[in-house]
Amino acid sequence: MTQSESPGHTLIVKDLHATVGGKEILKGVNLTLKTGELVALMGPNGSGKSTLAYALAGHPKYTITSGEAHLDGIDLLKLSPDKRARAGLFLGFQYPVEVSGVSLSKFLWTSFTQTRKAEDVDTDLFQQNLDQHLSSLGLDPAFMKRPLNEGLSGGEKKRTEVLQMATLDPRFAILDEPDSGLDIDAVKQVGETVQKLRSPTRGMLVITHYQRILKYARPDRVYVMVDGMVALSGGRELAEELESKGYDWVKVGAASSKPGTASPASHA
Ligand SMILES: Nc1ncnc2c1ncn2[C@@H]1O[C@H](COP(=O)(O)OP(=O)(O)OP(=O)(O)O)[C@@H](O)[C@H]1O
Ligand SMILES: [Mg+2]
Repeated sequence: MTQSESPGHTLIVKDLHATVGGKEILKGVNLTLKTGELVALMGPNGSGKSTLAYALAGHPKYTITSGEAHLDGIDLLKLSPDKRARAGLFLGFQYPVEVSGVSLSKFLWTSFTQTRKAEDVDTDLFQQNLDQHLSSLGLDPAFMKRPLNEGLSGGEKKRTEVLQMATLDPRFAILDEPDSGLDIDAVKQVGETVQKLRSPTRGMLVITHYQRILKYARPDRVYVMVDGMVALSGGRELAEELESKGYDWVKVGAASSKPGTASPASHA
């Protein structure tokens, strides 16, 4: 899928600044994600990757102080979290929350029906996607009856997040470390499922620390966040370079760049 064939839906983040607990974490994030693309977001612990994900999803703990986020020209920042979801944005959590009293099945069906118009609710398609992806993710269908995430292992929770994306079919998905805590076979299952979920009508931002998932879910671009800004971008090979060289060389480059010049540096 090339960009020129894409129907042209775009998520644009411009010079986004955000605080949490009174501390500025995002210091001018710029990034663009188009439908049809799979983009990886990497970066050291604490650099602000999850903060960006939460800020875009509308988590009330995160205060946007300046900047923009548009989904197809719609100002996301003006919308409540549920309206952002209806506009097509999905977030798969780094730390999925356990919810007692709501089964995975009930949660998925409610989310599915609440994020689309009644005439667009296709029960057969929902069930088909569900069955297919329970199997591709190696999840026992019995999980559907269990309370959301309650008592699931770390890896099972991660697979459940990807299952949510697969069934809700969002236009833009941010997956925050879908590979953390997964065993070797599960990384392959999750990576291959994410790759299968690539679509001309979907853009995916995959936050990860490791290039191993990117062997299966093959990104078009890799962004690197350092200290609340996208400090570097490059092709798939950048993930391998980071794995062998670490982040110190990126941090040095980011520190020497002028504050305020937050546009993603291309990796020449
Ligand atoms: N409530 C809070 N009060 C103060 N600082 C906070 C709060 N929540 C998060 N932070 C800080 O924000 C920074 C960015 O955190 P964030 O979770 O976005 O990093 P990350 O890039 O996702 O890291 P990781 O790779 O470890 O998941 C961290 O230094 C974190 O301690
Ligand atoms: Mg994080």
